Order: sequence, then C-alpha cells, then structure tokens
Amino acid sequence: MEKREQLYEGKAKKVFATDHEDYCIVDYKDDATAFNGQKKGTITGKGIVNNRMSNFMFKLLEKHGIPTHLVEELNDRETVVKKVSIVPLEVIVRNKAAGSLAKRLGLEEGTELKSTVLEFCYKDDDLGDPMVNEYHILAAGFATKEEVDEIAAMALKVNEILCDFFKQIDVELIDFKLEFGRFHGKILLADEISPDTCRFWDIHTHEKLDKDRFRRDMGGVEEAYAEMMKRIGL
Ligand code: C5P
Repeated sequence: MEKREQLYEGKAKKVFATDHEDYCIVDYKDDATAFNGQKKGTITGKGIVNNRMSNFMFKLLEKHGIPTHLVEELNDRETVVKKVSIVPLEVIVRNKAAGSLAKRLGLEEGTELKSTVLEFCYKDDDLGDPMVNEYHILAAGFATKEEVDEIAAMALKVNEILCDFFKQIDVELIDFKLEFGRFHGKILLADEISPDTCRFWDIHTHEKLDKDRFRRDMGGVEEAYAEMMKRIGL
C-alpha cells in the first residue's frame, strides 16, 4: 500500500491517505497531552505501545464479533485502518469510580459502582468535550437513535471482553474511552485502546499502569506502559 499525503494531525496521531480510497494509515506519536491540551509532554516509546496494544485489542474484539477499523499493522508505529467518518462522541465506560466521575460525584477513587456507567461526551476541543446525554445527541444530530443504541450495546460488550482479558493478567479495567466510526453504512469501533485511553490498575496493589501517571506527575510513566506490554505478552 502506498502512503500518500497527511490528512490530519491530532494530539497523539497522524493520519495519512493511501492509494486505496477506503483505507488510511495511522501513525502513532510519542507526544502526550492532558487536560484538553493544557499539559504537554513526551512519553518515550508510547506510540509503539499504543499502536501494538490497540491492534492486539482490536484483534481480540474482532474474534468476539466486534467489528473494528483495523486492517493491517505495517510496523511498530503505523497501521492501515478503514477510513471511517468518526461519530463525534467519546464513549466512556466505567467499572469503578475514578477521575472525573469520582470528582463529580464526590466518590473516593476506586469506589465500587453498583452497576456499569456509560457516558457520552461531545468531541469538541474548543468546548472541552462536554458530557451529553441521548437527548442532546439526537437533538443536535450527532448520531441517530439506532446508532446510539448500537454504540451503547457494543461499548458494553467491549467492556465484558476486555474485563475478562485483563483479569487474566492481574489488571483491573477501571474505565476507558472508545470512539466509533461510520463505514459504508456500518458502525465500526475505531481510534485506539491503550494506556492513554484506559485506566489500568494492578489487581492486588492498585498501582496505576496508565496515563494517570503522566497526568498526575507520578513518575514511572514509561515503565507502566512497558509493564502493560509485558503482561499482555507483546
Ligand atoms: O477523565 P475521565 O475520568 O472522564 O476519563 C475516563 C476514561 O476515559 C479514562 O480511562 C481516560 O483515560 C479516558 N479518556 C480519554 N480521552 C479523553 C477523556 C477521557 O481517553 N479525552
């Protein structure tokens, strides 16, 4: 496949056109941002971890019937993906209270939730990705009712598959963010599944093995990403 012009550069990835109209190439960078771009830094080797871990997760999910944008990993940092049109929603699934939910509801981080929480945020950097509910989504036309139902069902199924997987490597999946895309009339799981987009805690010690180490200046960021790769066997 021939790599052509750059289509987009985001905070953590670049996207390139290819000679195939339905495919593009994602190039994962080491750049790290937090708090809507207010905190900036580099996590050495992060692009490699996020590329390889996302592809591993997408393959696992495909095996369980979740359609994803993955086509083919090209090398450590680059992957061919289907050229979807992104649904402008960040879909967050939470198994335990942490981060913004813990703050908003005044819960201690790590508090058990009586049931799984599903949240939607409207993807807009200028607005700071505001949380929206289904009424907002339908009223603003971000997605149709059928799409919201399908996305919600897929997100909850992804949660079950990932929780089972991570438990086997002594990792608790506290919460994570997904993005979906439209491709020839079908909804596909897109974007990435990585320590940038998930909260991973060691099941026994509750040590954080994800981007919170960068967000909160905890140190040991690269080591945490490497530990996750080691446990997955990558
Ligand atoms: O910050 P908050 O608690 O809302 O984050 C919930 C989950 O969504 C975390 O796993 C975080 O890594 C992920 N997230 C993300 N990108 C964002 C916001 C949150 O990957 N823009």
